[in-house]
Amino acid sequence: MKQPGGTDGQKRRAGERAAAAVPDGAVVGLGTGSTAAAAIRALGDRVASGLAVRAVPTSYQSRRLAREASIPLVTLEDATPDLAIDGADQVAGFDLVKGGGAAHAREKLVATAADRYLVVIDETKLAGVLSIAVPIEVLPDAVPVVRSRLGALGGEPTLRAAERKDGPVVTDNGNLVLDCAFGEIPDPEALADGIAAIPGVVEHGLFVSMTDALYVGTDSGVDVRDAPK
Ligand code: 5RP
Repeated sequence: MKQPGGTDGQKRRAGERAAAAVPDGAVVGLGTGSTAAAAIRALGDRVASGLAVRAVPTSYQSRRLAREASIPLVTLEDATPDLAIDGADQVAGFDLVKGGGAAHAREKLVATAADRYLVVIDETKLAGVLSIAVPIEVLPDAVPVVRSRLGALGGEPTLRAAERKDGPVVTDNGNLVLDCAFGEIPDPEALADGIAAIPGVVEHGLFVSMTDALYVGTDSGVDVRDAPK
């Protein structure tokens, strides 16, 4: 679920700084959400000034924003991303909970394909330990089975309801989303392995040991943190 907090200025600063790190000729993965959108707009401004890039979108939203910004689009069949720029809902160390926009399946695919994964957030996303509900994309027929298996892992799953539509959120891939509360997550890798092993789970929103650099937007600037190699 989307987390409240963070200002447009903090998000814009983080997005602009990450977009400024994109080298000429690069293939860029484009994440989803309001902070990734700031990066896409800033990248569009650089393209208008002559930067040559090609981009792989992760959602309907990022594809549309990239088109509006005249950023040329390709698929993973055409090119391998040199880097991906993406947002997150909560960050502890360099581990993430993602999926507030229900785009985490394609985001994880593109991030994994990319040589470098840059994560853009406002400072309210930082936490000492991951603790928000983990979004889990699920095949529609599998919801009852996955619910029960998540319960056995200690989770409390809730089917994500749509706003301005009756019924559940349907992802860009035609699946449903369970937001599963586990309380504090002291060992994200173990939980990620447990969720991934459940049949019917398409992808979960725990992104463990994937981040190469964090761009944290604050009121006064951007705190850039490189992950240890
Ligand atoms: C979409 C995501 C987003 O990156 C995440 O929800 C952060 O969005 P925002 O920058 O709007 O807070 O994971 O699935």
